[in-house]
Amino acid sequence: MDLGGTRTKAVALEQGRLVSCVCLPTTDPISSLAGALGKLLYATKASLSDVAGLAVTGGGVRQAEEVFGIKPTRVDEIRSIGLGGVFLSGKKRALVASIGTGTALVRVEDSGARVEHVGGTGVGGGTIRGLGYYMLRRQSFESLRRLASRGSPLKVNVTVGDIAGGPVGIIPPEETASNFGKISEDALEEDVAAGIFRMVGEVVGTVAYFAAKAYGLERDIVVVGSPAAEPPLKSAILHTIRLFGGEATVPEHAEYAPAIGAAKHIAEATS
Ligand SMILES: Nc1ncnc2c1ncn2[C@@H]1O[C@H](COP(=O)(O)OP(=O)(O)OP(=O)(O)O)[C@@H](O)[C@H]1O
Ligand SMILES: [Mg+2]
Repeated sequence: MDLGGTRTKAVALEQGRLVSCVCLPTTDPISSLAGALGKLLYATKASLSDVAGLAVTGGGVRQAEEVFGIKPTRVDEIRSIGLGGVFLSGKKRALVASIGTGTALVRVEDSGARVEHVGGTGVGGGTIRGLGYYMLRRQSFESLRRLASRGSPLKVNVTVGDIAGGPVGIIPPEETASNFGKISEDALEEDVAAGIFRMVGEVVGTVAYFAAKAYGLERDIVVVGSPAAEPPLKSAILHTIRLFGGEATVPEHAEYAPAIGAAKHIAEATS
């Protein structure tokens, strides 16, 4: 289980294979743990006696206590992100960018023999929710995403072409020179929403690329976390990394990477 700042994600593994994934909003750590375990048992038609071990990671890990008689093993969040990222991508080494409420960058070598936290940024999914609420008074992520899908970031961003009339260095004219640099009081809501997703995606893509390049991993970037698979964000992150010459993937089940990594960690420790 991954007790994230916003959402709790939980997975069931059987013989090392992913058999079920559930998620729910994070409330207090005990309710989130109990709720996630209940949902998972219901989804897998399993009972408590089938649970061989319970691994917990994420921001709420310190508050994780025994639940229904099962004592959780606390697993470091960075290690969980790293192991989950290489498991889902099938890579042996990678720079895993985990975008959640904020964004963490994790370097993995030798299939997880070495996992290192290399940095991160406070720009992440929480930034989309916060700016979306303040600028557009939309509470739900889903409604912001729908709005963004109808808008264009080019209406609120200054492009390289707007300034230079053509490309500058390696950057083509249609790329961003200044996020929100030409927003006006008449800006449409959908264009503002698209600008928020684009800005967050560009920041995450940029920091991930340069962190990866420092370790020769710029062609092995793996992006995980709940927002990673959301269309307007995913495309902005992948496009930005490609623009600089890197290669990245968002694996299937990207939002469950830390939960899977935590389970893998205890499975490895007991095998
Ligand atoms: N259905 C949804 N409900 C809430 N947030 C969503 C949803 N879908 C995508 N998101 C986005 O995902 C973000 C949370 O992502 P994720 O679940 O990976 O983070 P977290 O693990 O809770 O946070 P962190 O890892 O930073 O502690 C939210 O800030 C929001 O932008
Ligand atoms: Mg998280």
